[in-house]
Amino acid sequence: MKRLFALLIAALPLCAIAQESIDQRVEELLSKMTIEDKIGQLNQMDGRRDLEKIKQEVREGTLSSIMNIVDPAVTNELQRIAIEESPAGIPLLFARDVVHGFNTVLPIPLGMAASWDEELIEAAARNTALEATERGIRWAFAPMMDIARDARWGRIAESFGEDTYMSGRLASAVVRGYQGESLADQTSMAACAKHFVGYGDAEGGRDYNTTSIPPRTLRDVYLPPFRACVENGCASIMTSFNDNDGLPSTGNKWLLTELLREQWGFEGVVVSDWGSVAGLIPHGVAHDKRDAAHQCIEAGCDVDMSSRSYLLHLKELIESGEVDMAVLDEAVRRVLKLKMELGLFEQPYARTPEQSDIYSEPILATACRLAEESIVMLKNEGGVLPIVPEKVKRVLVVGPMADAPYDQMGTWALDGDKTHTVTPIAAMQQEWGEKVQIEYIPCLTHPRDKSTAEFKKMKKAARKADVVVAFVGEEQMMSGEAHSLSSLDLQGAQAEMLEALAEVDTPLVTVFLAGRPLTIARQVEISDAILYAWHPGTMGGQALSNIIFGKANPSGKLPVTFPRNVGQIPLYYNHKHTSHRAKGTEGNLDNIPREAYQSVMGHTSSYLDVAPSPLFHFGYGLSYTTFELSDIKIENTAVTAEDTIRVSIVVTNTGEVDGTEVVQLYTGRKTASVTQPMKELKGFQRVTLKAGESRRVEFELPVGRLAFHNRDMVLAVEEGKYTLWLGTDCQNGLKTYFKIIK
Ligand code: NOJ
Repeated sequence: MKRLFALLIAALPLCAIAQESIDQRVEELLSKMTIEDKIGQLNQMDGRRDLEKIKQEVREGTLSSIMNIVDPAVTNELQRIAIEESPAGIPLLFARDVVHGFNTVLPIPLGMAASWDEELIEAAARNTALEATERGIRWAFAPMMDIARDARWGRIAESFGEDTYMSGRLASAVVRGYQGESLADQTSMAACAKHFVGYGDAEGGRDYNTTSIPPRTLRDVYLPPFRACVENGCASIMTSFNDNDGLPSTGNKWLLTELLREQWGFEGVVVSDWGSVAGLIPHGVAHDKRDAAHQCIEAGCDVDMSSRSYLLHLKELIESGEVDMAVLDEAVRRVLKLKMELGLFEQPYARTPEQSDIYSEPILATACRLAEESIVMLKNEGGVLPIVPEKVKRVLVVGPMADAPYDQMGTWALDGDKTHTVTPIAAMQQEWGEKVQIEYIPCLTHPRDKSTAEFKKMKKAARKADVVVAFVGEEQMMSGEAHSLSSLDLQGAQAEMLEALAEVDTPLVTVFLAGRPLTIARQVEISDAILYAWHPGTMGGQALSNIIFGKANPSGKLPVTFPRNVGQIPLYYNHKHTSHRAKGTEGNLDNIPREAYQSVMGHTSSYLDVAPSPLFHFGYGLSYTTFELSDIKIENTAVTAEDTIRVSIVVTNTGEVDGTEVVQLYTGRKTASVTQPMKELKGFQRVTLKAGESRRVEFELPVGRLAFHNRDMVLAVEEGKYTLWLGTDCQNGLKTYFKIIK
């Protein structure tokens, strides 16, 4: 009878999925479900297990969602069992970590962020949804928007970097791309904003570690990207593993109910991270799974990912009266609603397009463009780049990342096939091999290789070459989940390899492919040019070849600060005003007199042994052309909290080639009711100009964007004087002033 009901729902045409009808249908379905049916809807498990066992669980109705099965033949068969043989006949929802691309792997999110191109990110995310939905995936565990200020943390790779505003904008672009115009469209996937919240602040950069984020910082720095995603209609949110100040997120009622649902009005599904319901036990705040299930369902975590705590204990918790049936109903309602919004009751099976989208030409082309835009040029002395075949006859390519098809896909490339990866050496040889003589000596077999056996041969070849291009960096498994590092120096003999090359008089171009900012001060010193390509994905080699030979002009800008050494971490551009601001002259041990009076070095917030500034600032990146900013104009210098500031600047391409500049808008204030960041990003625009072209670029800044949690912990805009910068990075630009008045 119940199954018949679910099937009747299935017969409704797609166009009938209006919100009211969904709510009504959810209520009707819910009213017919047993307590077992309901609890089953809150259970999500991994699909990489014995298939017969999974089928049995589906048949019994104890599974609502299955992760990590990407074979449509299998997902469709499981779906058939759910609909035709399970007690309630409710379709399954197949989920996967679709983090940066699916089969076609995009640059890691940190690389995507370096493009500062939300339109392209949205388009690329849409392509990802096309590929993933063809494999039956309708729920993607992304975007991740943890603010990452510590590159030791391996998951910085999955983040959009250190800035709150930027992370919110770019994560929202992914949400829009995944979810498309309508969730009911079979090419759409429900997005999942993660990890709620503070996970990126893991103490010491050690993954899963405790965090101690104070309430104001939590609200002003870590929460806003999630709010932005909620406002962009993100269908789900994943709790984080960490505890903050004593409370694990998955059992935090203030976070999941008071803030997320009551204050923000979020109506979607909250899913725990993997095992993080039962994670309350090792955290030491729950005695057992029963206790953990009790705390988490009450807190507002709807779906239990893989710990089975809900499945095992919710029934007795409800029957004993410890948990109210209304609490269970509320969670189930949200899961059913999502399944209906996805149109699963009407069309539960993987879509079968006439022509597959997987690895299609347009998808590869977009991935290539995004990879090009993600590459940041950090140095280009003497214009060694781009390589011009008319002038350069012999190129020596070296290094373990020149041909590392698996590694360049980066972390969470679960569905990427390395045989589709275009590596730098392959792309360079294929496109330029006839015009330029390209010799390739890997020298090291992989980034941790310590062998120096090939150095002699390499140096000999370098002497004969007109330019050397060295590809170094990190293997795929050096970053990502549970892959934290205490040193960010190049591994293996890579640094020695570059030193050996620097001894030769041939210009040296060093290209980094890595999951995080590494500490590269010495390599910057000894190289003539530096490209930072992150892990650029399937088309990364093509993108690099295009940049190296000048078919594309670099436009990437750093979404994170590059420290000089690991001891400077955390180092981020939007640090607070302090009472003892560093002057910039500190950090030289040779300046310290012997046995001098203890205050002789002054009293500033700095180190004795390293400069207070970073190696490269947030927002920094070079181009093959040059840009100049002039004539900043602000329309309204006295505004109220409800106004919009209009500010503009003239950008001129003063070089010889066309190019793109990312104009960045920062604001800052010296005095407020609570200490403030020196400056904060509040807007950005990519501006493409022909050689010699000038354009006035306009920004609209709603004053409401400047709100922060004031001394009374109220989110408000404070009156007072502000500085506004329009710049090409967080340090260089022109400034103007405005006042916020009553
Ligand atoms: C654990 C990770 O923290 C999370 O990001 C991921 O989505 C889940 N595992 C599922 O694989």
